[in-house]
Amino acid sequence: MRFPDGFLWGAATAAYQIEGAVHEDGRGVSIWDTFARTPGAVLRGDTGDIACDHYHRWPADLDLLKELGVGAYRFSVAWPRVMPSGDGAVNKAGLDFYDRLTDGLLERGITPMATLYHWDLPQALQDRGGWADRDTADHFAGYAEVVAERLGDRVPYWLTLNELYCSAFVGHLDGKHAPGLRDEKVAVTALHHLLLAHGKAVSALRASGTTGRIGITCNLTSVRPFTSDPADVAAARRLDLHENRMFLDPLFRGAYPPDAAGHYGAVTDFGFVHDGDLEAIAQPLDYFGINYYERHAVRADPADPVRGWQRVPPARPTVTGIGIDPVGLREILERVNREYTPLPLVVTETGLALHDYVAPDGTVADDERIAFFDGHIRAAHEALENGVPLFGFFPWSFMDNFEWQSGYGVRYGVYYVDYATQERRPKASAEWYRSVIRANGLVGR
Ligand code: FCB
Repeated sequence: MRFPDGFLWGAATAAYQIEGAVHEDGRGVSIWDTFARTPGAVLRGDTGDIACDHYHRWPADLDLLKELGVGAYRFSVAWPRVMPSGDGAVNKAGLDFYDRLTDGLLERGITPMATLYHWDLPQALQDRGGWADRDTADHFAGYAEVVAERLGDRVPYWLTLNELYCSAFVGHLDGKHAPGLRDEKVAVTALHHLLLAHGKAVSALRASGTTGRIGITCNLTSVRPFTSDPADVAAARRLDLHENRMFLDPLFRGAYPPDAAGHYGAVTDFGFVHDGDLEAIAQPLDYFGINYYERHAVRADPADPVRGWQRVPPARPTVTGIGIDPVGLREILERVNREYTPLPLVVTETGLALHDYVAPDGTVADDERIAFFDGHIRAAHEALENGVPLFGFFPWSFMDNFEWQSGYGVRYGVYYVDYATQERRPKASAEWYRSVIRANGLVGR
């Protein structure tokens, strides 16, 4: 099972999850610093203060990436390092870090893929309303311009935002991510401003003259009704609106989905949409990133038959409660290609949380993770065979890290991190992935 020549095998991380050094070199406070300190918000009160100490250990980490053999590395730039207050003053030391990182990757023959926003909004902007405030979109474009001025000649792949669903809905409706709000009207407003921020950042990046390709990453789910009962079918359609179409339609069709006004009309009249916004949002892109973790069978919610849904629990949940369903990855890739865009697609994340441990013989035998990636790589290959222009696959994650509300309680890496000593060690999945990269597929397995 070979992949096309030049297929981009990568690995992914994000700034707050690995860097640590939150008080160093002029970094400002982010909403995740604040949220992690909120009692009860994160498992055991874990924070990203130290995390993988990647801010200091990046050269050795890049050596590991080279050893792994990846062609590309997806990292995120921390807005509060570059602009500690979100707008205004630029912190040169913050930019210097990403400059060194970019050069370090290029020196090792690894292609940088930079995400501009992986959830770490400067707290100073949150204090002025955060994503619920329209001005945040302009500040983001200003920040994008600053980063592009410095790195634009060397970063071949840009991603504006990571997972708008999580920023908007997990952060402002479910209250499980920073800033920890539970207000549906605010969540939908925040989503619009995130989309606008993306559009404005695309313009800023283009204007900067960067040679890099520009895209965005959405986490998408594969949704299907649990039965053919019209109530289940309608509930599945609503969940699909909430988890997929609210992002895909504005990005690729320049309009919110036809059923959005009805569904969210219960909380908002979409008065936050100004003339020209949707044109600004639906800018032409060069590629599109997809993060895939979940496939849902959906039932009507008897407690809320009009607006609700129930996700049927998976038969065999993983440690985070979701199931393993590689078929969903193929379905999403094919759907996006068929219904939304002929653009090149890339899997910017998929991965499995486990309670990995180092066995007495020093190994980390994460065979379940190998099976997980094997299944998802096969699904990606099927999509390719069915005509989807897929150009890369980035496992989440390069190494264990701060997993948001689960803190250090679950592990996603192909490298194991001993947080007390900061020692990294390849898990069985790292060895396996190296052989996949070398063979450019699952040849001979
Ligand atoms: C995604 C996030 C990423 C990581 C994985 C497990 O939602 O983008 O940072 O936490 O989930």
